[in-house]
Parts: sequence; C-alpha cells; structure tokens
Amino acid sequence: MSTKEFEPKILAFCCHYCAYSSADLAGALRIQYPPNVRIIRTPCTGRLETEYYLKAFEEGADGVLVAGCLEGGCHFIEGNLWAKRRVEYVRDLLPEIGLEKERLRMVNVSAAMGGPLAEIICDMVETVRKLGPNPLNSGTNSKNSETLS
Ligand code: FES
Repeated sequence: MSTKEFEPKILAFCCHYCAYSSADLAGALRIQYPPNVRIIRTPCTGRLETEYYLKAFEEGADGVLVAGCLEGGCHFIEGNLWAKRRVEYVRDLLPEIGLEKERLRMVNVSAAMGGPLAEIICDMVETVRKLGPNPLNSGTNSKNSETLS
C-alpha cells in the first residue's frame, strides 16, 4: 500500500465531561474533521489503563489520541494527570515494539473547544498518515486491519 492511499485509523479516547462534549460541539457547529477517527467515550481519562493503548495498537489502530479535561479541570480531580503519566509511560515503550511515539498523543481540552479539538484531530491524522500504517498490523496480523473499519 502506498502512503498516498493510506487512510490512518485513529482511535480517540475522549472523556465524557470535556473532550466528548467538545467533539459533540464540533459536530453541532458543523466543524469538519476527518472520518478516520473512532471516538470512544470514557468517564475520565484516568480510567484508562496502559493496556488499553497497547491493545488498541494490537487491534489495528494506526494512532491513538487521548483527550481529557484541561489540567486542573478533571471532574475526578487528578484523573487526567494520571492519564498523562500513563500515556508518557506507553510512549516510551512504543519504540521497543516497533512503533513511533507520535502514534500516541494526549491532549487537554475544555467542553467549549470544539474547533481546537477538530484541529488536533486533523493534525493527528496527518502525523500518522506521514508515519504510515501500523507495522504491527501487516502480514499475519492482517485481520486486525478490519477490526477498526
Ligand atoms: Fe475529563 Fe477526568 S473527567 S479527564
């Protein structure tokens, strides 16, 4: 598959209170972002264990975006700070399994940031498009490429 044809599959874990609401706002305002993103609503990014990110890549995601409340604004006090540490931990692990750190990103948004979230999603799609397909998803693991379709 050439890079030109490649449409990355991005999994976005969005916390219910801010990021999911801002994605909703982007939709309500008709702000467009690429359809490459599958949004999963989570109560708080602090609930996301490191295994979730690794499993997402194992299941065929080309990139994973974690979007939580602004720092200081988490509805569970420090959930987004826990998530930040976990994301950094997994980012450091990724090169050891043949993946670039840039495939995993955490951002903080408020519920009113529909436009900025759409821009972040566009940037993530372009970043991962340049990186190419998830190498864990080639060859014998090809069934995984359909998991997120
Ligand atoms: Fe949004 Fe915790 S409730 S990150």
